[in-house]
Amino acid sequence: AGRFPLTRHEHAASPEQRARALAELRFGVAFTDHMAHARWSPESDWHSHEVIPYGDLSVSPAAAVLHYGQEVFEGIKAYRHADGSVWTFRPRFNAARMALSARRMALPELPEEDLVASLVDLVRADEPWVPSGDGESLYLRPFTFASEPFLGVRAARAVDYYLIASPAGNYFPHGLEPLSIWVSAEFHRAGPGGTGAAKTGGNYASSLLPQQEAQERGCDQVCFLDAATGLNLEELGGMNIMVVDADGTVRTPQLTGTILQGSTRSSIITLLREEGRRVVEETISLESLLAGIESGRVAEVFACGTAAVVVPIGRLAGQGFEVEIAGTEVTRQIHAHLTGIQYGRLPDPHNWMYRL
Ligand code: COI
Repeated sequence: AGRFPLTRHEHAASPEQRARALAELRFGVAFTDHMAHARWSPESDWHSHEVIPYGDLSVSPAAAVLHYGQEVFEGIKAYRHADGSVWTFRPRFNAARMALSARRMALPELPEEDLVASLVDLVRADEPWVPSGDGESLYLRPFTFASEPFLGVRAARAVDYYLIASPAGNYFPHGLEPLSIWVSAEFHRAGPGGTGAAKTGGNYASSLLPQQEAQERGCDQVCFLDAATGLNLEELGGMNIMVVDADGTVRTPQLTGTILQGSTRSSIITLLREEGRRVVEETISLESLLAGIESGRVAEVFACGTAAVVVPIGRLAGQGFEVEIAGTEVTRQIHAHLTGIQYGRLPDPHNWMYRL
C-alpha cells in the first residue's frame, strides 16, 4: 500500500461510462473515480492520508477559505506513453512551488514526498482514466485550503489537502490555433509585495472580470501589465508569455515576484538554451513589443502553461491598438520538443519524467 491507503469507490464508473467520458475530452469537466486527501492541524501536523471515492465535500459554511480565500493549488499532467506506461512531468517542481505558495498564504507546507505520493497513489487507483489520444492527458489538481470554521482573520488551524484528477483535452477549444489577446489597461493581476508569485485562487478570481472584458472584445485571453508602472508585460490570465525575435532570441518577463514561476516557462527556457538559442528574462514593455511587431523585429509571440501547453498568439489588441503576428515556426518547434519529451517520443536528458 502507498502512503495514501485506498478505499475503493463502490459505484465507480463502468468501463462503458468511462469510455463515454473519455471519448470527447474537453478541459476540466470530467473527473475520475477517486481523490486523495490529507488533514493538517498544528497538534497533529499532516495526517489521515487516504485515497477515497471522488465526491462532494462536507465543509462548514464558516470555513475560512469561503470567506478569506486562504487556498493554494497546482496543475500537473500525467501522460500515457505508447507502451501504455503513465508518467508525470517534473512533479517536484510543482511540489516546491506549492510549498512557496503555501508559505505566502500562511498555510502549512505539504511535504514534497506527500504530494508526489498522492499523485502516485491516486493515478494507480484511477489508471484506466489516463487518456491516450493526441494531446490528451490526465490533469491533476492538488489543492490545500483553510477548513477551520472561524470568522476571525488569522491563519486557519484546520487545513485540508485534496488531489483530484480530470481527463483532459486541449485547454482552448480551437486547439493550437493562434490566440488573440486583449491587453488590459484598466486591471492588474498583482502588485509588488502581493500574492502574484503564489498560485492562489484569489489571483485567478481577480483575472475573471478582465478575462470577460477580453472575451467581449473578441479575444481568447487577457494579458496583464505590471501594476507599478502599467508599462510592462506580466502574464496572461492563466499562463506565461514569450516573445521570439526575428534574430532567434527568445524573451520572457523576468520573475519579479508578481508573476507565476511556470513549470512550462522554466522547461522551455532550458530546452531553447540547449538548442543554442539566446533566451533572456527581462522587462518587456508593451510599447517596445508593439514597435517590434510593426518593424518585423519580433517574429512570434506565444503563451505557455501546463494546461495550455504552448500556443501561438496571432493578435494583440488593447486600448487604441491592434496588431497581427504571423510567425509560428519556433512556437511549433518548441511545442513539438516539449510534448515529445512529455509523451515519451523524445529523449529526456533532464529526467523530468516521473513514472507513476
Ligand atoms: C495550469 O495548470 O496551467 C494553470 O495555470 C491553471 C489554469 C490556467 C487551468
